[in-house]
Amino acid sequence: MRRRTLLKAGAGLVATAGGVAAGGLGLLYATADVQTAGRIPFTNRLALPPLARSGRDDRGRTVFDLHARAARHGFRSGVPTPTWSFDGSYLGPTLRARRGETVVVNVHNELPEATTVHWHGMHLPAAMDGGPHQPVPPGGTWSPSWRIDQPAATLWYHPHPHQQTARHVYRGLAGLFLVDEDLCGPSGLPCRYGVDDVPLIVQDLKLAGDNRLDENNPGKVHGTVCVNGTLAPYLPVSTERIRLRLLNASGGRVYRLRLSDGRPFDLIGTDGGLLAAPYPASSVQLSPGERAEVVVTMRPGERAVLRSDPPELGGNFFSDRFAGGDDTLDVLELRAAATLEPSPPLPRELAPPARVDTSVVAATRRFELALPRINGQSMDMSRIDTVARLGSTEIWKVVNIDGQPHNFHIHDVQFQVLTVDGAPPPPELSGWKDTIYTPPKRVFRLALRFTDYADPHTPYMFHCHLLRHEDRGMMGQFLVLDTGQRPGTPSGHRHHN
Ligand code: C2O
Ligand code: CU
Ligand code: CU
Repeated sequence: MRRRTLLKAGAGLVATAGGVAAGGLGLLYATADVQTAGRIPFTNRLALPPLARSGRDDRGRTVFDLHARAARHGFRSGVPTPTWSFDGSYLGPTLRARRGETVVVNVHNELPEATTVHWHGMHLPAAMDGGPHQPVPPGGTWSPSWRIDQPAATLWYHPHPHQQTARHVYRGLAGLFLVDEDLCGPSGLPCRYGVDDVPLIVQDLKLAGDNRLDENNPGKVHGTVCVNGTLAPYLPVSTERIRLRLLNASGGRVYRLRLSDGRPFDLIGTDGGLLAAPYPASSVQLSPGERAEVVVTMRPGERAVLRSDPPELGGNFFSDRFAGGDDTLDVLELRAAATLEPSPPLPRELAPPARVDTSVVAATRRFELALPRINGQSMDMSRIDTVARLGSTEIWKVVNIDGQPHNFHIHDVQFQVLTVDGAPPPPELSGWKDTIYTPPKRVFRLALRFTDYADPHTPYMFHCHLLRHEDRGMMGQFLVLDTGQRPGTPSGHRHHN
């Protein structure tokens, strides 16, 4: 793929911005977009992350093992790319567990430096959360355990070391954690892993001439897209309907995914689980960390391309362009077999609607995002930014005040978006969410309920999930306290050199 150079158009646009443009900026602007629609050959069969094997310990807990290691991955022909991975060559296996199960994950760090593993989207005790306060030293093993108790959802795991998250994720440390309720959820939903239920971990990267990952800017937007670690991927489809579990595991890129022929699909789930009902959509936008589940209906023998259109970033055309706001990227080709196994119609009801009871609200807080700070402060591991009471409901108003693209992620809870600029949320924000894209100036009112776990010493995080921003300090910490508890000193913060 090559970068489009539209010098004249670019320079003209920059001039309208008020004459910021010297020639160099104009050239930068002109070359800052990536256009790969129709240019990706789709020669590689999509890799499927293997399901992690598990055992059972004498307490009846489901035990997984993850080994973070240096590895090599064949992104393309030539020398393999040095990567980091959990038990493979890139990314990690899919963990899968049912609501009600108690899991243990032995995280073995075989890397030359400390890392952490965070369970993004999971409701769990703060000490098990895998944020910056739970570093695993090189050669060490960390074994968090918790009881899974939340609706079926597509969650994921990734490192969260203080100021190093972008690099660790970019090197390949990420994987999915699927939570199930009944085996398959409401009947009619495709649920055969790798057959009609396929995870798509979408990332962007840049490979240097010698196939190394270009690490100059992990967390910035890059021009090469991979899915499950596969470049130019195609996915053979054998059933009439296929469920795609989409995860944006990129450091900074926002995708607006649609099918190239414009056909609608059914949006069935978001970050924290299934929507109340399938919603016909022609595109779905995902900022870093967000997930969506969609069901696509295919016709025998056809090919359809999953493409990312220029996302709606909502900022000014200049900053948006450098954030990938003008990019069109081919992501994946779906290849239907000549005959397709028939699929049942989708159920009309999927899950109870995502509702937080806001009749009693303990606190309303405001969070202002402006790089590299939240509410004027940048991340300090020894400072608690907010304290919530166990069992209480709070409303968090989140607003991006600096005009750059940001998003907002909260650990421990799945929240309900109450309003966006005072209006009810669109369908894609109507279900359980843990991460939302926050375009400049728009006010998001979120309802959060803090349940089950209190810990006066160990905080949870909230932060911008654009990893470069997160690493630069756009993160804060909150404690959940039980009655009578007082904030302690953040614990578990040890330095390993
Ligand atoms: Cu996906 Cu605090 O992280
Ligand atoms: Cu998280
Ligand atoms: Cu940000």
